[in-house]
Formats: sequence, structure tokens, C-alpha cells
Amino acid sequence: MKVFVPLDAAARALGADEVVAALQTEAARRGIELTLVRNGSRGMVWLEPLVEVETPDGRVGFGPMDAASVAQVFDGGPLSLGPVEDLPWMKAQTRLTFARCGVIDPLSVDDYRAHGGCAGLMRALGMDVEGRLAEVTASGLRGRGGAGFPTGIKWRTVAGAVADRKYIVCNADEGDSGTFADRMIMEGDPLSLIEGMVIAGITVGATKGFVYLRSEYPDAIAMMNRAVLVARTAGMLGPSVIGSGLAFDMEIRVGAGAYVCGEETSLLNSLEGKRGVVRAKPPLPALEGFMGKPTVVNNVISLATIPVIFERGAAAYAALGIGRSRGTIPLQIAGNVARGGLFEAAFGMSLGGIVDGLAGGTATGRPVKAVQVGGPLGAYFPRALFDVPFGYEDYAGQGGLIGHAGIVVFDDTADMLAQARFAFEFCAVESCGKCTPCRIGAVRGVETVDRIARGDASAIPLLTDLCDTMKAGSLCALGGFTPYPVLSALTHFPGDFACAREAAE
Ligand code: NAI
Ligand code: SF4
Repeated sequence: MKVFVPLDAAARALGADEVVAALQTEAARRGIELTLVRNGSRGMVWLEPLVEVETPDGRVGFGPMDAASVAQVFDGGPLSLGPVEDLPWMKAQTRLTFARCGVIDPLSVDDYRAHGGCAGLMRALGMDVEGRLAEVTASGLRGRGGAGFPTGIKWRTVAGAVADRKYIVCNADEGDSGTFADRMIMEGDPLSLIEGMVIAGITVGATKGFVYLRSEYPDAIAMMNRAVLVARTAGMLGPSVIGSGLAFDMEIRVGAGAYVCGEETSLLNSLEGKRGVVRAKPPLPALEGFMGKPTVVNNVISLATIPVIFERGAAAYAALGIGRSRGTIPLQIAGNVARGGLFEAAFGMSLGGIVDGLAGGTATGRPVKAVQVGGPLGAYFPRALFDVPFGYEDYAGQGGLIGHAGIVVFDDTADMLAQARFAFEFCAVESCGKCTPCRIGAVRGVETVDRIARGDASAIPLLTDLCDTMKAGSLCALGGFTPYPVLSALTHFPGDFACAREAAE
């Protein structure tokens, strides 16, 4: 009997290891030989730990499983979910980057290859540099870390730079609240990230790569370290990648845990062993990055999507999406929701469809009041904007951003003035201190929101002035984007700031 139990950190936090132990005991008691595979997560966090059993008709699921209920895996019962691929959450997705996540043993190269792994790399190896650059450009892929810069242009800048050394740096410092796509792919399909980094390396002329991982992700760190060893043994990394004569190798580096180290220049400083302070741009990291050398800095999801683009072809990838937002995006649905998790879909979905449909509304059963999209620097969207299609330009047009595609849901008990205060507080705590609008502005912001809370209406224009200054004058997105949650709270939920206005009247 072949059984799959996720080793994903979310599943483990929900008791997956205890379920494994109970399954082994139960199988032994029944005299059944158990072949146990620890896979990644399918992304349906509300069903974790999700146990899957291989059958002639596909894998059938049981969840959310607990140690006391494992007999159901053998006998059936109310936790039986039927074929996993037929669950509405799975069927409604376009799983490309996450196609193997939750399906394969993350450290089995045979499993990886059997599910399409390395096909993209093999195709890329058969192309010249110009062909590879053209493929990435034509796919329309944009940086999935949040900024949405075209990956093809970034790679072309590094490929065209003349230097004795170049680097690929994967930004795995996934600090946005409510996001976990990077973690899930690193724990569930780490070889896809490695394959993407190898393709990036042989395209721009880099022979060395780093994954900069946050210390808060111990499972992902362990998995990536093991995956690098596996990839070396399989010839995906080393002096001659899959016998091509092209060299590329990589290592995993762990940050000490600062939000600002997700900003690329701060990350590079940290990687070089320096304090994680933001550097002024220019020079761009593409020209003067790690150790002053041309460096591709890409997010985990951007890099893990590269093999898909080479395997399926740029045109197939670019055929999905809307406007200049091409391909798919892994939505991470969290906060006060009935069903939270990761859902990969082509760009263009409405927030209403995501929150009311997929997520099933709030966990509390109360009405949805606001949805913060794009992490702690993202805007709060009211229900009136739930029809805006999920895309870079579409969200920017509404004073927001899609960022790393984190979606955090709040019910009608949320106090948006308190959320605006939290945005400034967060910025004050995480600020690197390099520039004045952020270092001083965040502290003044907390004080100004407190004045509004005390009924001082004259503080409202001060708040908007402060936001304008931070937007225009901050050196990086931390200070520059903090106004998004603040101003969206003020604009869309004026009722929560009403006491100040009433006091003024
Ligand atoms: P940015 O717009 O300054 O730069 C985007 C990227 O394009 C950078 O890698 C930059 O070096 C590169 N670039 C720009 N012009 C280029 C050129 N001509 N040639 C080559 N490369 C070029 O944005 P930034 O500051 O890198 O990122 C801000 C975003 O980060 C925000 O939108 C936010 O959503 C996101 N973010 C994500 C977090 C996460 O946990 N994933 C955490 C915090 C922020
Ligand atoms: Fe540092 Fe804040 Fe300025 Fe960014 S905006 S450079 S985090 S002080």
C-alpha cells in the first residue's frame, strides 16, 4: 500500500509527523506493508495533514487527518475525500509552477524526471544564449517577488554586462505577511528552483548561484541543502551540467531575519556578510550586484517558473493571463478565511471569486470587510473593488499592488484605523534607517494616527502629507509603499477614522 503524507511545514505543524507514526503502527497491526512517501503540500491547508493513497484510479485523499483517525485510511470513513485531482480546488487551478508540488517525493530525481523535471533544462541546453533570452522575454514572465519587472530584460542586462564573474541570487527571504509560495515550492519541489537557477546561469554566463533563505524557514533550509546534494549527484549542478560542458553550482545561505533583507540590495549586503542596509540604485544589481559583479536577483517563484517556460514553450505560457500580466500566479489565501491555501491560476481572477468562492468567505462566518493584497505594504481592498481583475496594472490603477500575491482577509470586526497604525509601526520596526522619510516618517506616522484616534481632525491632512513624502522620498519600497495600506484604509474605510471628523464638526 503506497501512502503519501506531506512533509510541508504547514502540514507538520498540523500533526503530519504524528499521523505518519500512527499510520505505521496501524499498518503493522494489520500486517499491511506500507510504502510511505513524504511529499510536499497540494496547497489545501485546511485539509492538512492530507493523506493520499495510491489506487489504480489515481490518488484518493483523507483529511484533515489526525493520529486517532488513521484507521479510515484503511477502512474508509467521513474523512475520505475521493480522488484528489477531482477536488474543486484542484480542478479549478492551472498548476504549472506547482504542478509537481504535493505530487512527487521532493528529493527523488527519478520522480522529478518522470513528472517533466529537467525537460526545460534539456531544451535550454540545446539553444544558444540569444535563443534562451528570447524565450524568457517572449514568455512575458515578470518578477514574482512583487515588483513585476520583466525577467527577460533583467537577464539580458546581466548577459550583456562584461565581467570576469557573474552570479545568480535567488531571493527566498519571503517576508510578506500571508505569503508562503516560496516556502511551499522549496519544500515540495526544490529541484524546480535549482533547474531554474541553472538555466539562468547558463543564459547570463554565471557559474555560481546562491539561495538567500530566511532563518524562519528551517524545513525549507534543510530541504534545499539536501536538494543541492541530490542535484549535484544527478549532474544538474557541477562542472558540466548534464554533460554539456557548461558549469554551474550553488549554495544555500541563511539570513538572520530582517524584513528589509528581502529588498535586493539589502539582501546582497547581508550575503556579503555586511549589515542588511539598502544600497542606493543605480548601480543596478544587474550591473554591480554580489561582490560588485553583474547579478541576477530573482524571486523563488520567478526562477521555479523558468523550467515550465522552457518545457512548454514561451508561447504556451504567454497565452495565459491578461494585459501585461502573462502566465500564472500562485495566490496565497490567508487570514480570516474558511479555506486558506495556495491556488495557482492564470492572471485575471477577481478578488470576489477568490475570497467568496475559493476561500468560502470568512472563518468566523461574518461578512468580509477588507482584503489586504500584496503583504504588509499592500493596499486594503473594500468589497466595492472585488471585481478588479488580478493583474499588475489593474491593481496599480486602484492604488494597490499585487506584490507577491498574498491575500489576507479581514471580517467586519477589523478596525482599519488600527490597521493603518500597524502599517506605520511595522515600518518603524523594520526600517533599515538609511533614509529620513522612512526612519522618521514611520514613527511620526504612528503618532499622527494616534492623534486621529483621539479625535484630532487636523491630523488627517498631516497624515496624507506624510504619506506623500514617504512615497516620493523613500529610498526603497519599505518606506515608499507603507502609505498604500495607510491611505487605502483612510480612503475606503473613512468610517473607522470618523471620530476625528465628528470632533471637527
Ligand atoms: P524595483 O521596481 O526597484 O525593481 C524591480 C527589479 O527590477 C529589481 O531587481 C531591479 O534591480 C530590477 N531592474 C530595474 N530596472 C532594471 C533594468 N533597467 N535592468 C535590469 N534590471 C532592472 O522594485 P524592488 O524594490 O526590487 O521591489 C519592490 C517590490 O518588492 C514591491 O512591489 C513589493 O511588492 C515587493 N516585496 C516583496 C516581498 C516578499 O516577501 N516577496 C517583501 C517586500 C516587498
Ligand atoms: Fe531603509 Fe526605510 Fe529608507 Fe528603505 S525606505 S532605505 S528600509 S530607511
